[in-house]
Amino acid sequence: MPKITVDGKMVEAKDKQMILQACLDDGLQLPYYCYHPGLSIVASCRICLVEVEGIPKLVPSCQTPVRDGMVVHTKSPKAVANQKQVMEYLLINHPLDCPVCDQAGECLLQDYSYQFGRSQSRFEEDKHKKAKKDVGLNVLLYNDRCIMCTRCVRFTREVTGTCELYVDGRGHKEEIDIFPGKPLDNPLSANVADICPVGALLDKDFLFKQRVWLLKQTPSISPIDAGGENIWIEHNEGVVYRVKPRYNADVNTWWITDDTRYSYKVISDPKRLVRPIRTQYGAQVETKYDTAVNDAVAGLKAAAAEGGPGSIAAVLSPMMTIEEAWLLATAVRSIDPQAVLAIGPTPTTGADQVFKHHLTGKETFRIQAEKVPNAAGVRRVINLLGGPSATWDDLVAGTADHVKKLKAAWIVGGYLSNWIPTDAKAQPAVFKKGFRVVQDTLPNDLTAKADVVLPMAFWAETEGTWENHAGKLQAFMAAVPAPDGVRRAGDVYTSALGRTTKYSAESIRTEIGGDLTSVTLPSERTEEPAYEFVDL
Ligand code: SF4
Ligand code: FES
Repeated sequence: MPKITVDGKMVEAKDKQMILQACLDDGLQLPYYCYHPGLSIVASCRICLVEVEGIPKLVPSCQTPVRDGMVVHTKSPKAVANQKQVMEYLLINHPLDCPVCDQAGECLLQDYSYQFGRSQSRFEEDKHKKAKKDVGLNVLLYNDRCIMCTRCVRFTREVTGTCELYVDGRGHKEEIDIFPGKPLDNPLSANVADICPVGALLDKDFLFKQRVWLLKQTPSISPIDAGGENIWIEHNEGVVYRVKPRYNADVNTWWITDDTRYSYKVISDPKRLVRPIRTQYGAQVETKYDTAVNDAVAGLKAAAAEGGPGSIAAVLSPMMTIEEAWLLATAVRSIDPQAVLAIGPTPTTGADQVFKHHLTGKETFRIQAEKVPNAAGVRRVINLLGGPSATWDDLVAGTADHVKKLKAAWIVGGYLSNWIPTDAKAQPAVFKKGFRVVQDTLPNDLTAKADVVLPMAFWAETEGTWENHAGKLQAFMAAVPAPDGVRRAGDVYTSALGRTTKYSAESIRTEIGGDLTSVTLPSERTEEPAYEFVDL
């Protein structure tokens, strides 16, 4: 492994690494704009130039491979002078509108101007102004904030392969643009707002909603599909404001889909179920949560007593966590050891959506066809517990003896949109008659006729583990509390089981055992990384 010296410090690099990568891996601070670890290296912004002993000119650290014994200076007078000149050049036409810019607080131009720039501008001419542009469904371009790093252009070529963005013009007239009639509308489009190092590309959804330094980040997983994209849920005072990608080399690298990014909106849907309901004399009436849970358990017990073994079922949703599915399955089996464990609908688009590099054709990103996050985890629970089980198709067909026998069910939803088939023939018989406990997040045909309705927390309001399409178990934490009147499914099952201990996903993982015991929580990031101001 090559060893280099950076500002007098010995740095161990990896073979074929660039100087910048070796420095960043070692925790050293070097400014960079155009470099992004997920994109090709173009060395166009020149802020990362460093002095290397034996080489007369400054070299771009992002594009210069390490060599054993190399001696690098990042704070020499020549390197510092270059940093100041690049910063001065980049700010010449910049509008300096940080107070109204969404990027303020997470802007590399802002940060570097403190760390590496000049305190005053010498530019006395009129600034060259460029118009704001609507470049796509989710993204706005403030062209006069752009520093022409071309990260966004490379993203649409090298990751999505859709090539919507390009550099138009040359010199001071050059700007980022879209081709006529070809807006930036690919399913990963809003990643360009994340990788834009300044406030030029902004997410329309987040525009002017919050100052970023007020946001706290909680590690979570995408609820959109079986891919298990790693995300940060960013929130303030119990309200989620945005979702950002969380790097995971094995799953989603630096990127997330737009569907994942905007999945949080359902949490604040005004139609959310927030009132527990029980049926009294044929009419649904609002009740206390504990009363509704007691009614649910009593109704299932009565059905089991009347119908005999195997007459009740738990319909486990692939939106549930593994821990929740385990607890509900355990609860119904404690009422009837022959209770049927079934999995709810697992919608699919038929085929994965694959993205490729526009030149090499190499696969860069895949959106899973299965549009639920934890079908594999729910199947794992059903297999672990054994006994009578049914697939969704078995339930709908209703031909198997153990399905025909069902008199009651505890049915869980929690999907991000309506999941009840509109055609009554596509609904299982146990959805239409018998005693039905429905635990869900949004109202639907089933909640409208259920005997008991239990409002349920969304994934961002609870903790647990999901298993993605590749069998990867990933734990996540609650980012925000559930609204008043709503309970986490784990709490509901804990009380249905009569347990006195508080629900904790970690202790249920221990109870399940096996692979679940080795699942670890991602670390929480509640503060911005500390800055090390360079003394110039
Ligand atoms: S819009 Fe942002 S990412 Fe694109 S070139 Fe300009 S500064 Fe770079
Ligand atoms: S980061 Fe090296 S030249 Fe831009």
